[in-house]
Amino acid sequence: METIIKKIDASQIKPDDFSEAVRILKAGGLVAFPTETVYGLGGNAYDSTASAKIYAAKGRPSDNPLIVHISSFDEIYDLVKTVPENAVRLSERFWPGPLTMILEKSDRVPKETTGGLNTVAIRMPSHPVANRLIKEAGIPIAAPSANASGRPSTTKAEHVIEDLSGRIDMIIDSGSSDIGLESTIVDLTVEPPLILRPGYITAEDLKEVLSDIEYDKAVLRRSKDDNIVAKAPGMKYRHYAPKGELTIFEGEPKNVAYAIKTAAEEKLKAGAKVGILTSDELSGEYIGLSEKYGSTVCDRNDGELLLIDIGSRDDEAGIAAALFDSLRKFDGYGAEAIYAESFDSKDIGQAIMNRLIKAAGYHIVKV
Ligand code: TXA
Ligand code: MG
Repeated sequence: METIIKKIDASQIKPDDFSEAVRILKAGGLVAFPTETVYGLGGNAYDSTASAKIYAAKGRPSDNPLIVHISSFDEIYDLVKTVPENAVRLSERFWPGPLTMILEKSDRVPKETTGGLNTVAIRMPSHPVANRLIKEAGIPIAAPSANASGRPSTTKAEHVIEDLSGRIDMIIDSGSSDIGLESTIVDLTVEPPLILRPGYITAEDLKEVLSDIEYDKAVLRRSKDDNIVAKAPGMKYRHYAPKGELTIFEGEPKNVAYAIKTAAEEKLKAGAKVGILTSDELSGEYIGLSEKYGSTVCDRNDGELLLIDIGSRDDEAGIAAALFDSLRKFDGYGAEAIYAESFDSKDIGQAIMNRLIKAAGYHIVKV
């Protein structure tokens, strides 16, 4: 299949920008589109065949439900049995935006879209291109992240092209996603509500609206040995993973840098290509190593070592926005072993570490 690449300038949307995408979606085809979190792979949420195509294009297990995207609050009533008070209040505070709510699904939503569950995940994205696409299509759009299953999510059209070109009808290119991590997921079918996936909207933010909220135990999991089954089916799979083996080092910053240098040098001496994910605060620690192995503190890839400085530890939003892109850069470089510093797990840091730990398959070294 030939995949159409359509550029749309989010700040200057033209009247006929969406006509072809809408035609494809109405005919049961698939269109990848930008959102403020990550790119989504969209299909008609009411069409079980379109959902099946989404699973096939991603290589995604079909028990892993899709998020249904809407463009205005009224669209929720066709998708759910009832709209609880908490959903109304959360939507007033956080929609449009990076929050997904789990509610009891209506009979109109096919089981193929919800991975066989009686509940449905719903989100109203704030990205103007996503909003206009859903509005003009006039149907709710089921959309998982637009990556091949298991790979890091896509925050640029180039990432989507890499993973899905030839497998879907169209990719809308509107540049980079601002947030860079997938939405926070809150399950409102239980009391107290549960956070199934941490994101840019934090537990503290949610507490402004909900008197009581807890984490699904799997969110806080830090070890491969914990026998915890995630409530969001997608959170149980190996996920976000680069092709190289990723290890996270945790501890006092200077000790972390020292341990990473030692581990990296050993691999480099053995002839492997190595990646290091560092921060402004520690990047200077690796200068000796980069001089020796022919790379600099940036993302040049002319040596045996690719050092990516993801920015200052104080700028959590910046780290979140660059995380998946960095993991993909290590892949593009061919890094066989990747060593990452760990980050603070407060606020957005919790979502950052949740993704990084999964990408590492829970491989954390304490130093
Ligand atoms: O930011 C986002 O949420 C992006 C953009 C495109 O909106 N979408 C996204 O979708 O991350 P996806 O499919 O990659 O992740 C959806 C997650 C999965 O972990 C899935 O298991 C969970 O949501 N989920 C969906 N429906 C659910 C349900 N009814 N109950 C529990 N978990 C559900
Ligand atoms: Mg995903």
